[in-house]
Amino acid sequence: MHTLPAPGEENMSALRSSLVLLRMLLLALAPCEALYPGTDEGWQVYSSASDPDGKCVCTVVAPARNLCKRDPRSRQLRLLTEQVQNVSQSVEVLDLRTSRDLQYVRDTEPLLKGVEGRLNIYTANPHSLTSKGLQELKGQMSQLRPLSSVVEQYRSDLLTLALLRGEVLNLSVTLTTIQEEVGAYDYEELQQRVLLLETRLHSCMNKLGCGRLTGVSIPITVRASGSRFGSWMTDAMIPSSDSRVWSMDGYYKGRRVLEFRTMGDFTRGQNFVQHLLPHPWAGTGHVVYNGSLYYNKHQSNILVQYHFRSRSVLLQRSLSGAGYNNTFPYSWGGSSDIDLMADETGLWAIYTSIPNAGNIQVSRLDPRTLDVLQSWNTGFPKRSAGEAFMICGTLYVTNSHLAGAKVHFAYHTNSSTYEYTDIPFHNLYSHISMMDYNPRERALYTWNNGHQVIYNVTLFHVIRSDG
Ligand SMILES: *[C@@H]1O[C@H](CO)[C@@H](O)[C@H](O)[C@H]1NC(C)=O
Ligand SMILES: *[C@@H]1O[C@H](CO)[C@@H](O)[C@H](O)[C@H]1NC(C)=O
Ligand SMILES: *[C@@H]1O[C@H](CO)[C@@H](O)[C@H](O)[C@H]1NC(C)=O
Ligand SMILES: *[C@@H]1O[C@H](CO)[C@@H](O)[C@H](O)[C@H]1NC(C)=O
Ligand SMILES: *[C@@H]1O[C@H](CO)[C@@H](O)[C@H](O)[C@H]1NC(C)=O
Ligand SMILES: *[C@@H]1O[C@H](CO)[C@@H](O)[C@H](O)[C@H]1NC(C)=O
Repeated sequence: MHTLPAPGEENMSALRSSLVLLRMLLLALAPCEALYPGTDEGWQVYSSASDPDGKCVCTVVAPARNLCKRDPRSRQLRLLTEQVQNVSQSVEVLDLRTSRDLQYVRDTEPLLKGVEGRLNIYTANPHSLTSKGLQELKGQMSQLRPLSSVVEQYRSDLLTLALLRGEVLNLSVTLTTIQEEVGAYDYEELQQRVLLLETRLHSCMNKLGCGRLTGVSIPITVRASGSRFGSWMTDAMIPSSDSRVWSMDGYYKGRRVLEFRTMGDFTRGQNFVQHLLPHPWAGTGHVVYNGSLYYNKHQSNILVQYHFRSRSVLLQRSLSGAGYNNTFPYSWGGSSDIDLMADETGLWAIYTSIPNAGNIQVSRLDPRTLDVLQSWNTGFPKRSAGEAFMICGTLYVTNSHLAGAKVHFAYHTNSSTYEYTDIPFHNLYSHISMMDYNPRERALYTWNNGHQVIYNVTLFHVIRSDG
């Protein structure tokens, strides 16, 4: 029996402000608002008072010399249009995922209806059932009942999503229309607004896509490569169209990072380049975020940011107080003292220190400086943890690296509270030395005894439509 998560509170207001922003943008794209009257372009703008509908009425007189369609800014505008189209594609993807999650909820509906039906029969004819059976059914029923309202709320999520998609579509149309009137807008302003919109939309979608972990899918083995221990990943930054795959074999003093062009290339072991890190790594807790590898330097608690494109170290910084050199590893050892990861909300370090008595500490990091922005002490002993990963600001901890492991503990940084969970997953090759969530793929990447394995996750979220 699944325990039902409590409805989320904050998501709706985030979504709403995003929708408001969209409307603002649509308004801003109406000629009157987007123009700087009397800019040096030689445009003449005559704006009058609002019409009865509240719309701005204006007349623009353009100088003939600016009507050239090859204006470089016309290309810029096309780019903006494309960006909006990309965002709208992301909305589609999210919609698909939400529908997939909804299916999970729907699957439990027949169960609910079935129990309800039987209960009705027994209530009408009490003699058809022993009192013990009736009690059992009633118990089951009261456990199931909250699901019903949750299902309804979930449906409203989909409606909200459809609305969002509609807005993006409208925006896209507006942009295409004004493309034909190139020159009539202040491009910098326009670009700023679209960038802002894009950022807000992505953060909104991340929140929409966020929720509690309720299930881990059956695994898919992507490849068998490398030694027993290691780590592999794709870039965890959102938004990003980077599809490269990185692989780092071993946990002790490694320096060789393989970079594959695509997941397909990784699967076939072809089309890769090699990066030789200037400083060796410790453990398997590395993460690729925004085009850089963040990792723990061998026999130290120094974090290193290695930038792939420039092939250079951008930052090195000690994670103050953090245990290292196999002092506080996960249950499997392997110098896994410091585990770096990223979720929808940013970059994180999972580690422990002597003052924390070996209990897992979660710290949010600034990816640009590696400063610790905020820390939480979870109270969960790190040596009893198989692995740990972050999803939507919640830390999930498994109770073993061996067969039979479960996601056993969850710590919510938003409320500084924890709970015990019981989420099973199939440990195919019996020894997991790395397990990290990738928020772009919404998948768990694991290194299991020389196999690279992926799991999908089901995140359960509810957005209140009355919020
Ligand atoms: C839109 O997405 C495509 C494919 O993901 C990418 O090649 C293109 O650069 C993106 N365009 C913009 C303007 O972000
Ligand atoms: C998009 O525009 C159409 C036509 O202007 C309008 O009917 C529709 O309500 C708009 N959709 C949204 C989600 O605003
Ligand atoms: C914290 O996050 C969890 C999991 O995402 C969510 O269920 C819970 O409602 C959130 N609590 C607060 C106070 O926002
Ligand atoms: C991502 O990298 C770009 C340039 O490489 C930088 O401008 C931007 O600030 C970075 N963003 C984050 C969140 O680190
Ligand atoms: C790390 O541990 C190894 C083996 O236990 C030891 O030989 C070495 O001196 C330690 N290094 C540091 C910097 O603590
Ligand atoms: C995850 O879900 C996607 C979309 O349904 C599917 O294409 C992919 O194969 C799944 N991956 C795993 C590991 O189940």
